Parts: sequence; C-alpha cells; structure tokens
Amino acid sequence: MGGQKAQLCVTSPPYGIGGTKTYESGTLDEWFETMRAAIKNICRNADVVCYNIADKFNTGGQFIEPTFAYSVQLFADSGFRPLWVRIWNKQRKALSSSAPFHLASLKPVGDSEYVAAFSEKEPQVIDDNEVDISEHSYVSAFANHSYKLIKRLSKQERREWGYSSIWNFPSVTGTGNPKDRLDERNHRARFPVTLPWRCIKMHSDKGNIVLESFCGTGTTIVASEQTERKCFAIEREPLYCDISVARYHAFAPDAEIFLLRGGETMPFSETNICV
Ligand SMILES: C[S@@+](CC[C@H](N)C(=O)[O-])C[C@H]1O[C@@H](n2cnc3c(N)ncnc32)[C@H](O)[C@@H]1O
Repeated sequence: MGGQKAQLCVTSPPYGIGGTKTYESGTLDEWFETMRAAIKNICRNADVVCYNIADKFNTGGQFIEPTFAYSVQLFADSGFRPLWVRIWNKQRKALSSSAPFHLASLKPVGDSEYVAAFSEKEPQVIDDNEVDISEHSYVSAFANHSYKLIKRLSKQERREWGYSSIWNFPSVTGTGNPKDRLDERNHRARFPVTLPWRCIKMHSDKGNIVLESFCGTGTTIVASEQTERKCFAIEREPLYCDISVARYHAFAPDAEIFLLRGGETMPFSETNICV
C-alpha cells in the first residue's frame, strides 16, 4: 500500500469448516491456521477492522462452531477490541431449504450474521470542523471525547441505520451458472455493497486507504469507488480476482486498469478478461 497503513479494513473471511456444499471445505484447525495469520496481518496493516462473519451451523452434529466468538479472541491476541457489534438481518425467508440442519436440531436457519468493528486504539476523525452538537446532545453528554466520530454520517444515515444494533438489508444470491463465468453471482458467499459501504462511511474519510483482505468478487472495491476511497484488495482464487476486475471495469468503464502479471504491467484491454 505504498508503505502506508490502511485507515480501515473491511472484510468477510472464509466461513467454511467442513460441509460439502460450501465453497470452502477445510477443517476447523485449517480455519484457525488461516485466520490466526490473517487477523494478525490485518491488524498490523489497518487502524480499524470491520469484520463480517456468521457462526458455523452445518457441522454435521448438534453443536455449532461459534466462528464469530473465535474471531473476537483472535483479534484480542493482536490487542484489537470490539468498538461495536451489529447483527445483520439478511431478510431471508425462515425455514429455507438451503439449511436442512434446522430440521434435525434446534439451530436457527442462519438468517443473520455478525458485523463488528475492532481497533487497538480509540479512533479519532482527522477533520475537525464544527459540529452542531445540539442535534445529538445526548450523545455528547455520554461520549464527549468521541462525539466527532458520528459526524461522518448524515442525520438521515444515523436515523436510518447508524443508531441501530440491527442492520436490515437483503443478502445477495448466486446463479451458480457456469456459463456466466465472470458474473459475481457465481460466488456463494458475497456480501451486498451496502455492508462495506456503511462501514466505510463510519470509519474512513475520502481519499484514504481501505484494505480488503478476502476480496471475493470485489464488493468492497465497488463500495470504495462509490465513496471515493482507495481500495487495496487481496484474493486467493484467480477466478474471483478476474471477476473483481471485470466487475470494477463494468462499474467504472473509464478507469485505467492495469494488471501486474509475472512482473509485467498489462493494460486491461490486452488481457483475456472480457465483459
Ligand atoms: C466470504 S468470501 C468474501 C466475499 C466478498 N465479501 C464478496 O462480496 O465477494 C471469502 C473469500 O476469501 C478467499 N480466501 C480464502 N482464503 C484466502 C486466503 N488465504 N487469502 C486470500 N483470500 C482467501 C476466498 O476465495 C473467498 O473468495
């Protein structure tokens, strides 16, 4: 990132532990191995981390794996504590047939996920413009040292979702159609643009760096572009990298895109990634 630290990392890591229908199929030990190293790295490279994950329900037995709780501990190992935790209500129909484990256990159907922000230090906004405290005097009465944070959100944003511990917006679904190779809907575990968009609005300023360490189909890249932040993204699977580039190109057709491959810089138009 040009030697700079990101102001914010927004990411949703692999959820997969076991299970044959998921896009990942490792064991819990493998998940810990990946996530212990990843969270350590993320915490070294970002001031605030917004992290989205669900607990793991399809374990094959009556127990679940509380991957969110495990993650909180991994952040604590790097000295990062939760600034807030929200529940994302995915607005899925209850008793979805894609979650058959609910028929054989008391587990819920997975219609919500966690979104949480972690930091080592109390975040401060850089910009110090005057704020009309009268509009939120009760907030400043209880948190006068950090009231400046909330001014990143407009009055309407605060009222619609900024104050709420539950975020209501629908999840995104996939087509699973191999013909649409570069369609982001081919990824089973995307989040909607609204999720990174809200996190970016809350914790970063225009022109600053947003890190996305598990980029998938580039949803955080799109949200960063919409909010005029610079996004640095990492993804392991070449197909999802291609989807991210194609998606970014479709979103910002006039942007100059270059790919670095095998040490060579290549204009997007000369690659075989087409949309
Ligand atoms: C939950 S998905 C993220 C989806 C993304 N938020 C989106 O909207 O498309 C997690 C992603 O992490 C990637 N991944 C898994 N292990 C990784 C690793 N060690 N390094 C980088 N990416 C990895 C997976 O390929 C997957 O695309």
